[in-house]
Amino acid sequence: IDIKALRGATGGVTTLDPGYKNTGSCESAITFLNGEEGILRYRGYSIEELADKADFLEVAYLLIFGELPTKEELAKFHSDIREQSHVDDDVKKILDGFPKSAHPMGVLSSLTSALVAFNPSSVNVDSEEEMYNAIVRMLAKFPVLTAWAHRKRAGLPLDYGDDSLGYVENFHKMMFHKPNQNYSVDKKVVDALDKLLILHADHEQNCSTSTVRIVGSSHAGLFVSISAGINALWGPLHGGANQAVIEMLEAIKEDGGDTHKFMNKAKDKEDPFRLMGFGHRVYKNFDPRAKIIKKSADEVLTALGIEDPVLDIAKGLEKEALEDSYFVDRKLYPNVDFYSGIIYRALGIPVEMFTPMFALGRLPGWIAQWKEMRQRKEPIGRPRQVYIGENLRSFKPVEKR
Ligand code: ACO
Repeated sequence: IDIKALRGATGGVTTLDPGYKNTGSCESAITFLNGEEGILRYRGYSIEELADKADFLEVAYLLIFGELPTKEELAKFHSDIREQSHVDDDVKKILDGFPKSAHPMGVLSSLTSALVAFNPSSVNVDSEEEMYNAIVRMLAKFPVLTAWAHRKRAGLPLDYGDDSLGYVENFHKMMFHKPNQNYSVDKKVVDALDKLLILHADHEQNCSTSTVRIVGSSHAGLFVSISAGINALWGPLHGGANQAVIEMLEAIKEDGGDTHKFMNKAKDKEDPFRLMGFGHRVYKNFDPRAKIIKKSADEVLTALGIEDPVLDIAKGLEKEALEDSYFVDRKLYPNVDFYSGIIYRALGIPVEMFTPMFALGRLPGWIAQWKEMRQRKEPIGRPRQVYIGENLRSFKPVEKR
């Protein structure tokens, strides 16, 4: 599209589209999404096939560089990431300054911004090599920060994982290993985690990704653009929904398990309560990720021999919503986060860490979108507005007001 010609042709007309419901912000070759038919593809590969056959690091490479890596490319990518996984000791001091009760999303966004101070060259991304280095650093250090945010809350010492392990297994070790204990993990746990991360890896121009692109469009560096994305993801209408879902399911359980009562609350327009994990800006039939996750939740709980009563409450709510005209008319279906919390919980991940897990999964998507935006030399993001305030008035000194 020739933007200059378009601007000339519209004669400076400004469109107003609150929430950007019908406004495209960019052209992108990364993720294809068809909300009516429930289709999601990364770089042309279906989410179903990737979740079934790929691993998270392969998907990260695919999203960022556009093609599935060869064996050699994947090995080099992983080894470059391993080499950059060290986080400066002074970052530990910053983490130390947070209260133990701090929400890990706030901690993570702060530490991700702070990384710039220790990697000042990461803001120079004009050459392919500089861009690659910034990307590898981000992918290497973020899992460490995420695990540290958890370890601080859990009162565990901060250290590193084991370079001989895969990216996701190493993250799991960094999260959970205890001093003076041999670490081992069931392959089923790592596989489930891997799948969840893949399902969250990109979702075109959602709130946090648009934030990353718009912050990056001012040529702020990768780390601070990602930090902004983390903050956008934190809200309960976006990534924070996964924490909110499990809290809601727990509340329903504590209240005696009457799902109907909560459905009515969600339908009551005087009540701000919404059914968390339901609805999506784009998916208007079903969320393909939710389908995969629901099946996975069943499998993981069975494999680990866990019986979680909130899974039954979740299934009950879904069934009731599918038969309720309020939800049917508004095309409100479970989204990716409706069942993810149940799996996270089965894997021993505490509730406050659910949204950081989403951030870890979304990281490759954010990076890919930021890279695309920079490489396409997109202009600074700067929407217009329709002014609805006062006309010109004269200033009155304070004693005359
Ligand atoms: N419970 C009850 N009613 C809902 C819900 C819900 N979860 N979601 C939407 N509605 C209703 C709205 O009240 C509105 O009704 P109305 O037409 O009578 O006024 C109608 O459905 C349309 O809703 P909007 O808010 O206009 O839809 P929008 O596209 O702006 O919002 C969103 C989408 C934010 C996901 C919304 O559905 C929601 O708040 N869901 C709950 C939070 C959630 O699960 N967020 C995670 C999203 S997925 C993700 O980020 C990974």
